[in-house]
Amino acid sequence: MSRASHPAAIRARITRLGEWTLREFAQVDSTNFVAGTLPVWHAVRADTQTAGRGRFQRPWVSDAGGLWLSAVVPAPVEKQDWPLLPLVAGLAVIEALLTFGVARIRLRWPNDLMVGDKKLAGLLVDTFDPQRAVIGLGVNVTNQPAAQDASLRHTATRLADLLNPPPALAELTAVILDHLCQKMAALAAGGFAALQPRLNQCWGGTPRVTVDLDAGVRQGIFTGVDEHGRLLLQDEAGNRTALAAHEVRLLREI
Ligand code: BTN
Repeated sequence: MSRASHPAAIRARITRLGEWTLREFAQVDSTNFVAGTLPVWHAVRADTQTAGRGRFQRPWVSDAGGLWLSAVVPAPVEKQDWPLLPLVAGLAVIEALLTFGVARIRLRWPNDLMVGDKKLAGLLVDTFDPQRAVIGLGVNVTNQPAAQDASLRHTATRLADLLNPPPALAELTAVILDHLCQKMAALAAGGFAALQPRLNQCWGGTPRVTVDLDAGVRQGIFTGVDEHGRLLLQDEAGNRTALAAHEVRLLREI
């Protein structure tokens, strides 16, 4: 289906927000899919998604009241740098949420936003073509994820549980897109090394983790990322191994 004949395109509300052109819909399949048809510095928000996607091909509960947002940014020229985008986007979103006063918020590698052991938000980055990357963000705000999936009762949290009142979706969208634009500019100007020290303050400590690798399972202490964005895993003897994102299938905090 062409972009012009996409059914959702007819009902978009279009707003300019700084660098961004924001298209808002009542409902889409996945905001990442709609954003994938758009040029860089376009963003898509929908009230609900019928086929919201999480990492590892998992469905993402996308009921009304949550922030379901996708932003199209220039993909790094070198493909080996694409794994930096989820890290940079995670940093942008955590800094945006800090401006609303969310306490105890932290990142879990590579880019889950956690409050304690509960997940507040997740990011899914799609690179549909070499020039453009789609940064998809889901934030639980006033939606009711546990009403859709009871297993989320003990694993998910919402801004409405943390802030009274929670921010309006319009304000949240504007602040997050602004921070994302700033971080993309910082990445372009100074490279990832300019963002790495600040990012490494956002992990909320050095958790003990299990990482599933192609070569097997390893345990150790997660100590952050290096200047190339590789995960740093420290063993009992204090030796550190740097693992590229593509080597790590899954990280679990233990
Ligand atoms: C995860 O933690 O597994 C990633 C979740 C990403 C969800 C967002 S909601 C907006 C965008 N559209 C999607 O289909 N997924 C992302």
